[in-house]
Amino acid sequence: MTPLELCGISLRGPVLNGSGTFDARAAHRAFGDALLERFPFDAFVSKTITLEPRQGNPPPRLWETPAGMINSIGLPNKGLEGFLASDLPELARLPVPLIVSVMGFSREELAQLVCAVGEHDEVSMLELNVSCPNVETGLIMGADPAETALAVERLRSETAKPLVVKLTPNATDPGAVAAAAEAAGADAVSLVNTLKGMALNPQTGEPWLGGRTGGVSGPAIRAIALEQVATVAARVGIPVIGMGGIASGRDAADFIAAGASAVAIGTENFRDPAAGRRIAAELAELSLTRGTRDTSSMPV
Ligand code: SIN
Repeated sequence: MTPLELCGISLRGPVLNGSGTFDARAAHRAFGDALLERFPFDAFVSKTITLEPRQGNPPPRLWETPAGMINSIGLPNKGLEGFLASDLPELARLPVPLIVSVMGFSREELAQLVCAVGEHDEVSMLELNVSCPNVETGLIMGADPAETALAVERLRSETAKPLVVKLTPNATDPGAVAAAAEAAGADAVSLVNTLKGMALNPQTGEPWLGGRTGGVSGPAIRAIALEQVATVAARVGIPVIGMGGIASGRDAADFIAAGASAVAIGTENFRDPAAGRRIAAELAELSLTRGTRDTSSMPV
């Protein structure tokens, strides 16, 4: 796989995980150091952390859809202190650059998170999750270009590390949000997070998910994600990390052809924890025959 520079960080290839779709610590416990020797991704994106610990949404939290699923997880996490004390030391042992995903209920909370996480040498980049559909405030911030710009402007001075803004497909104009993020100082954008969706309990007709609504992911949303990646990539000069139902090297090649510098695997990781490596190998094979865009020359 061709190495690339993403926001000035060297990656051995273009395949990342989507935040919250691969538990590297649990995988390490299950597979031991074999996981580190054949790590499935070229950079690792942490599950989103918040300032304070969160329990997440009440169960049930998942619903399977044709070609995908709906999650209503609600960002359970140990909070900043718990993450720094127990997760970061383990994630720092991964053999690839670490991207930490953060979400705040206000710009000030986000600023505290970015400042505290960005101080750690083990962290290569930060991803701003302004797009979780399961926590009201996150989605509202990322659905609006002006709100997104205000957040990125506020955070820019808190760290010299690259800031990746994770975009929601639930915005009226994701291209405008991406352009606002870029103008405010974002180094890259990643998209798409999940599409807002709902499932009803077949017995009662009531919402199945404890959080009532959730986020739809998987191959069911791939065509939508591909269009949004193409639209955003045409609108911004910063790198785009494309994701949304990627399940094969062919899918990944499509996102790169649409303008993504790198891709992330999400729902497919739940079906196949080794999907990242498989998809990277398929992509490398395809690149030889299909002449996909050379990611090593993308802006840094
Ligand atoms: C969640 O924890 O609800 C999923 C994370 C996200 O959609 O950003």
